[in-house]
Amino acid sequence: MHYIRRPSWHLSESAATPESVFMNRRAFLAGAVGAAALAAAPGAAEARPAEIPWTPEAPRNPAYADAGRPVTRERVNAAYNNFYEFGSHKKIASAAQALKSDPWTVEIDGLCAHPQRIGFEDLVKKMPVEERVYRHRCVEAWSMVVPWIGFPLAELVKLAEPTSDAKFVRFETAADRDAMPGLRQRWYPWPYTEGVTIEEAMNPLPFMVTGAYGKTLHKQFGAPMRLHLPWKFGFKSLKSITRISFTADRPVGFWEELQASEYGFWANVNPEVPHPRWSQARERVLGTDEKIPTQLFNGYGEEVAHLYKGKEDLGRALWM
Ligand code: MTE
Repeated sequence: MHYIRRPSWHLSESAATPESVFMNRRAFLAGAVGAAALAAAPGAAEARPAEIPWTPEAPRNPAYADAGRPVTRERVNAAYNNFYEFGSHKKIASAAQALKSDPWTVEIDGLCAHPQRIGFEDLVKKMPVEERVYRHRCVEAWSMVVPWIGFPLAELVKLAEPTSDAKFVRFETAADRDAMPGLRQRWYPWPYTEGVTIEEAMNPLPFMVTGAYGKTLHKQFGAPMRLHLPWKFGFKSLKSITRISFTADRPVGFWEELQASEYGFWANVNPEVPHPRWSQARERVLGTDEKIPTQLFNGYGEEVAHLYKGKEDLGRALWM
């Protein structure tokens, strides 16, 4: 079998839908109708409005109110997504509307005092929901700024109460063969999984995202709940999470399993450590013509650099 090791992250920008196509579309309305319209590919029939089971009301956390750059326009973000379950290209928004995100259950298991199967809405009710504006840097050298709504991963960890044997948190994405055509690509190690250390999970930055742009999460963003780790490359921030497990052993992520030398476990953003096939020194700001210098830890070093003290011997692996 010809084993496709290269994710199509190296697709050129010209392969993405020109923004002007979307700018001309009529229906950039607020709310669900707008969201569904945004999701439709140009020329495709308008998608039906998504059902919105829960309306986020979230105060903006002043500590994360300003990402130092303008927020990426919603229509740009909503039309340029990586979600391989729906296709190995950026225009998956329309296909992603097949995701059945309501009802949704999350399994919390492994080495913890309170393993449980919990409905998404019941989980959210227990959590301090807020808005945070975060920078988002893909390993493919593009970036955006997103006003996420959600709650700190640390709060979910506290709810589960991991035992002292738990050293890592492993996350798993839904794998619905009927809704997700990408799952037919059998050379990928589905389901999409990722992991962090317990120390990383307890840091204040990791965010369980349940909304964006003042709305429930668009399906193409990973409805109803995805992770965002703003100091790591975007592939660590998995979407549509169904399972969260506390483990003693280090989990191996989806891309690490495919190509460990290119997509490692740590994947901290560092402009000085190139990907084996391209530089990470600069990033293309989506929705603009700008290319700007990439920052160490994507600019979040003050919050997270201490997590990696004493791990310097990991060398390149710490960064990629
Ligand atoms: N999660 C799942 N389940 N499947 C994916 O293909 N792609 C990752 C990450 N999470 C991916 C995923 C990558 S490579 C990136 S850059 C971000 O999602 C993109 O998130 P966005 O589409 O909201 O920008």
